[in-house]
Amino acid sequence: MTAIPRIAVFGGTGFLGRAVASRLTGSGMAVRIVARHADSAAGENPSGLVEYRAADIRDEAAVSAALRDADGVVNAVSLYVERPGGPSFEAIHVEGAGRLAALAGQTGVGSLVHISGIGADEASASPYVRARARGERRVRSAFPGAVILRPSVLFGPGDTFLRSLEMITRRLPVVPLFGRGGTRLQPVYVEDMAAGIERALQSPEARGRTFELGGAGIHTYREIIAMVLDHLHRRRLLVPVPFAAWHLLATLASILPGPPLTRDQVILMESDNVVGHGMSGFSDLGITAHAMAPLLGICLDART
Ligand SMILES: NC(=O)c1ccc[n+]([C@@H]2O[C@H](COP(=O)([O-])OP(=O)(O)OC[C@H]3O[C@@H](n4cnc5c(N)ncnc54)[C@H](OP(=O)(O)O)[C@@H]3O)[C@@H](O)[C@H]2O)c1
Repeated sequence: MTAIPRIAVFGGTGFLGRAVASRLTGSGMAVRIVARHADSAAGENPSGLVEYRAADIRDEAAVSAALRDADGVVNAVSLYVERPGGPSFEAIHVEGAGRLAALAGQTGVGSLVHISGIGADEASASPYVRARARGERRVRSAFPGAVILRPSVLFGPGDTFLRSLEMITRRLPVVPLFGRGGTRLQPVYVEDMAAGIERALQSPEARGRTFELGGAGIHTYREIIAMVLDHLHRRRLLVPVPFAAWHLLATLASILPGPPLTRDQVILMESDNVVGHGMSGFSDLGITAHAMAPLLGICLDART
């Protein structure tokens, strides 16, 4: 009898991690969900293929233990906002990612899929974006065969992206745009992303490569808000707000314990977030990505 592959999904309790765990167990793989609060997240396990392991990516011994007997590993750990006394982008996206990759290499894990993001750039004005780029470099040097996946913004039931747009359009009489709302995004359905991760774990051709993953449609921020408003049968005035004002707002918000907006988010919205010219993408992984519009119902209707 062939042994069932065991995949350790770091960040497996998060939005993407949950979709990945579900996809892999659906394909008959055993999944070890690893996160700081994995024990408290431990839920139903009808297939018997899921185990939960508490580990902080900053803790070498815990990461090492979580990798034991793993055939593959996925790094879907995130940190979007640095809070006083909390972990830094450097600790999670650079040192943590590098530690996981190095230990995966030392323990003989066959494949590593590292999740980054489109736009990762060591020269960015955003500390978050710089850390993502330096993390990619650290991962590549510690585990040369790692597959790096850079998605655009993710959407799906329970996401942050569409949920926040729904909330803004419900609570505010007008919708403020980033600049004129012309930034182009290529939203990725979370189930396509999970399928891409499964292929990246299994495909020898993917080893050592970086993929940029974008959905079937490219839309400006303004167009996405219009789609959401249309779907929800709401009418709101869309108001351009200069980026300088957003930067000021984000600076003021940074003194709050849980800022609703960060400078990193504003900087990200200043550039298009779409698959770069000539980059490998979903089609190279044999996946046809979904468009967002037909899926708005399953993403928005449950929460309105
Ligand atoms: N969501 C998007 O639109 C989007 C777009 C582009 C790229 N990405 C990337 O996709 C990845 C997953 O994002 P997501 O949106 O699914 O994140 P998420 O929902 O915020 O989930 C984050 C996961 O990481 C775990 N985690 C956080 N700090 C940790 C630590 N120190 N040690 C171990 N685990 C830790 C969390 O669990 P605990 O808190 O219990 O530890 C949770 O399981 C990230 O790399 C993100 O940058 C996401």
